[in-house]
Amino acid sequence: MRFQDQVAIVTGAGSGIGRETALQLAREGAVVAVADIDVARAEAVAAEAGAERALAVAVDVTAAEQVRQMVRTVLDRFGRIDVLVSNAGWDRTGPFVETDEALWDKVIAINFRGHLACVHAVLPAMIERGAGRIVTVASDAGRVGSSGEVVYSGAKGAVIAFTKGVAREVARSGIAVNCVAPGLTDTPMLAEVSVGSERLMEAIVRSIPMRRLGRPEEVAQAILFLASGQATYITGQTLSVNGGLTMV
Ligand SMILES: NC(=O)c1ccc[n+]([C@@H]2O[C@H](COP(=O)([O-])OP(=O)(O)OC[C@H]3O[C@@H](n4cnc5c(N)ncnc54)[C@H](O)[C@@H]3O)[C@@H](O)[C@H]2O)c1
Repeated sequence: MRFQDQVAIVTGAGSGIGRETALQLAREGAVVAVADIDVARAEAVAAEAGAERALAVAVDVTAAEQVRQMVRTVLDRFGRIDVLVSNAGWDRTGPFVETDEALWDKVIAINFRGHLACVHAVLPAMIERGAGRIVTVASDAGRVGSSGEVVYSGAKGAVIAFTKGVAREVARSGIAVNCVAPGLTDTPMLAEVSVGSERLMEAIVRSIPMRRLGRPEEVAQAILFLASGQATYITGQTLSVNGGLTMV
């Protein structure tokens, strides 16, 4: 069990990739804070993980004070944080020219500033202990760009650069910071953004060398690897999990 007695926070853990990550961490021995803006979903995942293995936490990652409160709750209850998986995200597709500032603000707040708030909130306790592992979840859209989700691509690119910068700053404090960049993964988010673009999705899937969507558990496996003691000399890296769609 790679995470025996470790304490982990997973944001956006009520659904999709975050849910699978929280469940796999719990199966591998961690106690997991299942954090999500949708508390009912977080509670359902925490119940699935087992009451002794998981704690549901309501948090909006765009509200820095709520994020700090989440971290205080976890520290008060469990005394330490070994792992942060900063995964919460949101997307709305459409041509950039038809977007407005309200949408830009929302996309950037969830997909970029949310990571700043979460990483900023956990670092003091990790620095004090001289140990910690952080995995941010970006997207291949942040490496190569993606039409129809241009602002999201920009925010995800910012997450990748942010991850590298923080990794440099905290490496000497014993903290590793890495990023997982999923490709198209079969989750409720993908289902939502694909509505009305089913033929386009089929064409994209045909262009994936493995000819299929990823499964959330396959992304979770990469996250757990980077969060584990098997990745002790890896920091500042971005690992795409995408069936070969992009190779950068
Ligand atoms: N599914 C894909 O194809 C895909 C591809 C590339 C990257 N990603 C990224 O993977 C991550 C997980 O996505 P998913 O596909 O599992 O999505 P999902 O919609 O299934 O799950 C996302 C979760 O985040 C939560 N969330 C949204 N806004 C939040 C907020 N402000 N505060 C706290 N929680 C919030 C939602 O309630 C939801 O439970 C996201 O960062 C997403 O951008 C997904």
